[in-house]
Amino acid sequence: MAELFAGVGGFRLGLEKAGWKVTWSNQWEPSTKTQHASECYERNFKSGIHTCEDIAKVADSLQNKDKKWVVPDFDLLVGGFPCQDYSVAKTASQAAGIHGKKGVLWWEIRRFLELKRPPYFFLENVDRLLKSPTSQRGRDFAIMLATVSELGYSVEWRVVNAADYGFPQKRRRVYIVGVHKSKLKKGEFQGKSWILSEGVIASALPVSQFSGDESPAFKLESDIVKLSDSFARGFKLSPFLNAGVMQGGEVWTYSVVPKFRGKSVNLEDILIPEKDVPDEYFVEAGQISTWKYLKGAKREERTNPGGGKYFYTEGAIPFPDHTDTPARTILTGEGGSTPSRFKHIIMTPSGRYRRLTPVELERLNGFPDNWTKGMPDGRRAFMMGNALVVGVVAKIGKSLKSFAEKRN
Ligand SMILES: C[S@@+](CC[C@H](N)C(=O)[O-])C[C@H]1O[C@@H](n2cnc3c(N)ncnc32)[C@H](O)[C@@H]1O
Repeated sequence: MAELFAGVGGFRLGLEKAGWKVTWSNQWEPSTKTQHASECYERNFKSGIHTCEDIAKVADSLQNKDKKWVVPDFDLLVGGFPCQDYSVAKTASQAAGIHGKKGVLWWEIRRFLELKRPPYFFLENVDRLLKSPTSQRGRDFAIMLATVSELGYSVEWRVVNAADYGFPQKRRRVYIVGVHKSKLKKGEFQGKSWILSEGVIASALPVSQFSGDESPAFKLESDIVKLSDSFARGFKLSPFLNAGVMQGGEVWTYSVVPKFRGKSVNLEDILIPEKDVPDEYFVEAGQISTWKYLKGAKREERTNPGGGKYFYTEGAIPFPDHTDTPARTILTGEGGSTPSRFKHIIMTPSGRYRRLTPVELERLNGFPDNWTKGMPDGRRAFMMGNALVVGVVAKIGKSLKSFAEKRN
């Protein structure tokens, strides 16, 4: 397989557990000079070719055949592409070329699929992807589906909260699996039974149906510019529900609920002993009230830059965090001692407040302890905020592996 947007290698960790082998990977962070993620990736993984370069430049090179970058062939393309970048709309003025907005990394994935033609792909992103943008709910995902359909892929997707399947973090992400028609048997990758039981994702992460009927929900317009202009205009909600499958532009989509009978793992199960927590992770007494304020419910009169008054309101979130449930989602801003509404704070057995350590954040995503050691702690937390729950990827990867093995 080839891994794009590799970060610190969450996809690879999961997929190697499932028996996949990485031949080529890419990770490049545009906003920093030091390439912490790429360095971490290379330190932990010794096999395969790793490249640290803007993926757009690599794709240009493949397209121009200038041999500056050579990417070996692969069966599976994977990646969690940066989530701020899924605004993929094409406007009429961009219609001449196949690519959409410049700098939008989805189009690099599409270029890789077109140039390398792997039989399978497996992508991950925030679940908002199914609902963006607000003016045309679901349009961006519709364009992604239509572009891969054009290349001959059928696709299934599912929004999975890792905690629903026994992982210690409530992390809700959309997982997207594509298979080229050359690998499909008649009747596969379509209909309700694919989503509910037969599909690659349903076999890995069982569900029961919540709503929906037998017929395809809708057919996507194949002209991408028209689709960009018209999809879901005037809709309040996205037509894409939390599970679905697309073949030849036809979309079946249902709301499903997870079916899991295993043991759940909670935040308390992954904590390190209090005696091993460095001092800097304990909250200073003088800051406790700020943390409480930020996490508390509020309704405050504020003034906007134009001088107008408005009420700012938000509800309370637990302070300290519950440890007898899975953790909340780790965000990229989880590191550092500055008080914040979104960082986790727990109460220790001796009654002190503390933040989570880098190793605990790694455990919440299922990475081995000290995977990101060697970079500043704030960056370690950032990497885990960007990464994914390795065990979810491993389960889907295993199911995809057995699907692929039956076709070789
Ligand atoms: C959501 S993160 C993926 C994290 C990864 N799945 C993991 O387990 O760590 C997206 C990654 O894409 C990288 N990235 C952003 N722009 C890029 C570009 N132009 N070329 C290559 N990589 C890029 C970011 O540095 C980031 O690590």
